Amino acid sequence: MFNKAAGITEDTADKTYEHHISYLIGERNNMKNFRMLVNADDKTGHINREIYGHFSEHLGRCIYNGIFVGEDSPIPNIHGIRKDIVEAFKNIKLPVLRWPGGCFSDEYHWKDGIGDKSKRKKMINTNWGGVVEDNSFGTHEFMELCELVGCEPYIAGNVGSGTVQELAEWVEYMTFDGVSPMAQLRSENGREKPWKLKYLGIGNENWGCGGNMKPDFYAGMYKRFASFCKNYSGNQLYRIACGPSGSDYEWTEVMMKNLFHNNQWMAEGLALHFYSIPDWNNKGFALEFDDDGYYELLNTVNFTEPLLDNHIRIMDRYDPEGKVDLILDEWGTWFDVEKGTNPGFLYQQNSMRDAMVAAVSLNIFNRHAKRLKMANIAQVVNVLQAIILTEGEKMIKTPTYHVFDLFKEHQDGEAVYCWSQNENIRDGKSTPMLSSSASVKDGTMTITLANCSLSDDAEISCDICNFAANTVSARILTNEVHAHNDFDTPDTVKIEPHTAALENGTVKVKLPACSIVEVTLK
Ligand code: AHR
Repeated sequence: MFNKAAGITEDTADKTYEHHISYLIGERNNMKNFRMLVNADDKTGHINREIYGHFSEHLGRCIYNGIFVGEDSPIPNIHGIRKDIVEAFKNIKLPVLRWPGGCFSDEYHWKDGIGDKSKRKKMINTNWGGVVEDNSFGTHEFMELCELVGCEPYIAGNVGSGTVQELAEWVEYMTFDGVSPMAQLRSENGREKPWKLKYLGIGNENWGCGGNMKPDFYAGMYKRFASFCKNYSGNQLYRIACGPSGSDYEWTEVMMKNLFHNNQWMAEGLALHFYSIPDWNNKGFALEFDDDGYYELLNTVNFTEPLLDNHIRIMDRYDPEGKVDLILDEWGTWFDVEKGTNPGFLYQQNSMRDAMVAAVSLNIFNRHAKRLKMANIAQVVNVLQAIILTEGEKMIKTPTYHVFDLFKEHQDGEAVYCWSQNENIRDGKSTPMLSSSASVKDGTMTITLANCSLSDDAEISCDICNFAANTVSARILTNEVHAHNDFDTPDTVKIEPHTAALENGTVKVKLPACSIVEVTLK
C-alpha cells in the first residue's frame, strides 16, 4: 500500500486516505468564503501556448531510459521513442520542447549525434554524473520526437565550448532547402527535406556552466553567434539570448542595452532561469517535509510574480514596444535526489506539493502573458519536477502532469482580468491562500483556481462579467499534500470531476484544502 523506500510511511499513507475520504463525504476543515470577479472584456495578454512548454536534457534518465529506449527495446516504441510517453505528451498538448540542455548544451557538438549510430562518437557527460554519452539520440531523433508529439522544437546551441561556424552549420543542416554542404549531409543521413525550426537558444546559463561570462562579454558573444544564424528557405528563427539567473537584474539591464544594434533588435527572447529552492544548502527530499516546509516553498514560488515584474520593468525601459519577449526557460522545484539514486541524475518524486507549485506558477504566467511568451518546466521526464516518471516498462503521470492537463485549455487563449478576495496564510511571508487566472478562447472561458491552504476549505462566488455562459463544468485535483503516484499505485493523485453551479452569472465552486480546480464556462 505504501512505499517505505520512497519515503512514504504508514502515517503519510493514512493522511492520504483520510484526505480522500473527508473530501468525498464533504466534511472536513473550516470553510472560508471568497468573492471573485472575471471580466471577459478586459483582456490582459495573449497566452502563447509555449507558456506550457517543457525542457529535456541529456541528464540522468530524461532522454536515455526515459523518452528514448532504443529500437530493440521490448517497450513499445517508434524508432526508439516510447509510444506511451508520446501519447502522454499529446494529451496535454505539449507545445514546445527544449533540447539538448541545460548545461549539457554548451558541451554538445551536434555533428557527433548524426549519421550511422554505430560510428557516433562517445563523450563524457561532465555536468551530469560523468556518464558516457553515446550520442544515439541526436538531431534526427529529437526532430522525430517533436513531429510525433506535434510540438515546436527548441534547440539550445553551444556557445560556451562551441564555435560560431558550428552553430551556423547546425541551423543550415536543419533548415536549408537547396544545394549546400550541410543540406547534402542531412540528405545523406536520410532526411531530404529540411525541418522547420523556430526557437533557437544561443547559449545556456552563460553566466555559469555555459562559460562563466560577465554580461558585457556574453552580449558581444551573443551578437556574433546570432549574426551567423540565418533564416534559410523561408524558415524564420526566433533567437533566444541567455537571460539572468533569478534576480540578477544587472544581467537583464546589460543585455537589453546591447541587444539593440544597428537599428534592430538582435534577439526575439531573453531567457530567465528561476528554480523554487528556499535553501540551496538544504533542499530536503521531495516527500519529506512539514507544513512549514510547504509554505516556505510556496513563498519562494510566489516570488516569481515580483521577479517577472521587475525584469519586465527593465525590459520596458529599453523596449517599450515589447519587441523582445521574456522567456522563463527553466523553472520548477529542485529537491535532494531520491535516496539510493545517482546524485548527478536529479531524480525526485513528485507530490501534491509539486502540483500546488505548478498551479500557482502557471496562474502567475497567465497573468504575465503580455510579455512572458514561453516557460519551460524542468524537466519533462525523470528529472527534477518531472511530469512523467518511468521504471523499466512502467510509466506514471505525476501530480504535476495532471496540473498541465487541468490548465491546457488556456493555451492560445486571451488572458482576462481575474480578481479574487484573498488572505495570507503565513504572516510575514507571501503565501496567498488562493491563486487564480482566467482566459477566453472560441466562446469558452477557462478559470483555474488553487486553494493553497492545508487546513481551510474555500467557497468561491465568482461574478462573470461580459461573457454569456449557459453551462458550467469543473475538474479537480486534490489530495493530502504528500500524496503522490508511484509504480505500484499510479493513480493515487488523479483528476476527478467536480461540482460547480452557475446562477445568474455567478459561479459557485468549493475548493477543498490543497486542491486545484479547472472551471469551464460555455
Ligand atoms: O535543469 C538542470 C540544470 O539547471 C540545467 O542543466 C541548467 O541550465 C540549470 O542550472
